[in-house]
Amino acid sequence: MKTIAFFDTKSYDRESFQKYSGDELNFRFFENKLNEDTVSMAACCDAVCVFVNDNITRRVIEKLENYGVKIIALRCAGYNNVDLKFARNRIKVVRVPAYSPYAVAEHAMGMILMLNRKLHRAYIRTRDHNFSLDALTGFDLNGKTVGVIGTGKIGQVFAEICKGFGMNIIGYDPYENKDFCGKYVSLESLLSQSDIISLHCPLTHENKYLINDETIAKMKKGAYIINTSRGKLVDTQALITGLKNGQIGAAGLDVYEEETDLFFEDFSDEIIRDDTLSSLISMPNVIVTSHQAFLTKEALSSIAETTVKNLNDFFKTGKSENEIII
Ligand code: NAI
Repeated sequence: MKTIAFFDTKSYDRESFQKYSGDELNFRFFENKLNEDTVSMAACCDAVCVFVNDNITRRVIEKLENYGVKIIALRCAGYNNVDLKFARNRIKVVRVPAYSPYAVAEHAMGMILMLNRKLHRAYIRTRDHNFSLDALTGFDLNGKTVGVIGTGKIGQVFAEICKGFGMNIIGYDPYENKDFCGKYVSLESLLSQSDIISLHCPLTHENKYLINDETIAKMKKGAYIINTSRGKLVDTQALITGLKNGQIGAAGLDVYEEETDLFFEDFSDEIIRDDTLSSLISMPNVIVTSHQAFLTKEALSSIAETTVKNLNDFFKTGKSENEIII
């Protein structure tokens, strides 16, 4: 029997994983995030299972190795929160490369519809018996240009959804996907042609702050930015400047560069000390969701199934098809 320490777990994680525990895996669920202060909770465990805001630094990896932990199982696709170079030859790292590209792509489209048709404002107004339509004018998506940055599994599905709306689809990706339904263009051209830009690429050392003062200046005036990928792809201060001067028409953010200590938690009884986030949330043309794009029943079930398979494969054969090798 192998013991797996699950960090940063919520009720929906426990529900989706519990049915896979069985005779071979024993699950220990912790609410804490994995970091240098909490790593000791993994002592005597064979594996850790972590999520997007666990911080797996060099020191965490050293300690996990000393505790005899053999494998870090990410229950997500992105892996920018793991020091992979340091992990190499010390501890295996596996992930769930694809669970439901539909979940994230549909959330991105949900944000576009909400921002464009001002559904968030209409919802609040009618609850207050205010049936005025002032300032609720949107635009037809049909015929508008959407720029997809990152045309992998999610970007591809997102582009298909946009196609259904009659949009003109362009994409930028250093590695072209033959199944992408849009036309590939350079990043410069994507920035200058798009009415809506949606980010679907991973965060890497090279593309931190891909959306910055310079790239925002190259966009069409009033362009929308949708980020369901990783917070640090966007320089938030530059975004705020762009929103304030009207260069950016609206922003849909499912991720935020300083989300680690905020997202997934309830602070409704407290004053948020992050003035940048407060400023964004106060803007009528910004929607912030707390990294929920993945959250569908289908995605949760698929994440649990693949994670358990990754662990079982590793414990039986020493290998997993979803190992991250750099
Ligand atoms: P994928 O690996 O299938 O596709 C990513 C694509 O981005 C690849 O085609 C790659 O060539 C491209 N790419 C890499 N660097 C790029 C750059 N600098 N510019 C343009 N394209 C670049 O990944 P998938 O499954 O489509 O996921 C994309 C991202 O979505 C993940 O890396 C993750 O950050 C994010 N994500 C967010 C979730 C959420 O709940 N908000 C859930 C799942 C994923």
